[in-house]
Amino acid sequence: MFCGEEMENKEYLQIVGDLLENRKFNKLKQEKHHHNSNRFNHCVDVSYMTYNVCKKLKLDYESATKAALLHDFFFDDEFKNKRKRMLSHPETAIKNAKKITTLSSKEESIIVSHMYPIGGKMPKNIESIVVDVVDDYVSLKEKLGGDLKSLKAAVNFLFVLTINVLLR
Ligand SMILES: [Fe+2]
Ligand SMILES: [Fe+2]
Repeated sequence: MFCGEEMENKEYLQIVGDLLENRKFNKLKQEKHHHNSNRFNHCVDVSYMTYNVCKKLKLDYESATKAALLHDFFFDDEFKNKRKRMLSHPETAIKNAKKITTLSSKEESIIVSHMYPIGGKMPKNIESIVVDVVDDYVSLKEKLGGDLKSLKAAVNFLFVLTINVLLR
């Protein structure tokens, strides 16, 4: 959650500090997300976990961290109904993100595939898979609450399996 460890991580703040202070992005604090969270905190949690995982794996953690922060940059009133929101919010997040920053093609690709396989496009790079898995993990944690050790182990297993398949 924002105002935790990430606030003291200078490198993390160098990557996304300006976005965290952006007025429009801060409006996500008023958007409910997965019952127990708001969308701002959700995006920060996904982004900070992505930062740690990608850095550890020596991936392009700067692109992944920024894209992860912006992956759910949308507002409920931008959609007619829940189904439309679920299917098209990645594109809306990209559109909204481009109003406050520039996005590389890789960052766009990470955002557009974060709902795969439920919706969104298929991930094109390993950073996209990390954001997709981390988003699922954070979302489940928000829905169920608490510190889910067995879930974490399951996600870790899935993650390692994915990487092994990709690096074959
Ligand atoms: Fe999403
Ligand atoms: Fe998300």
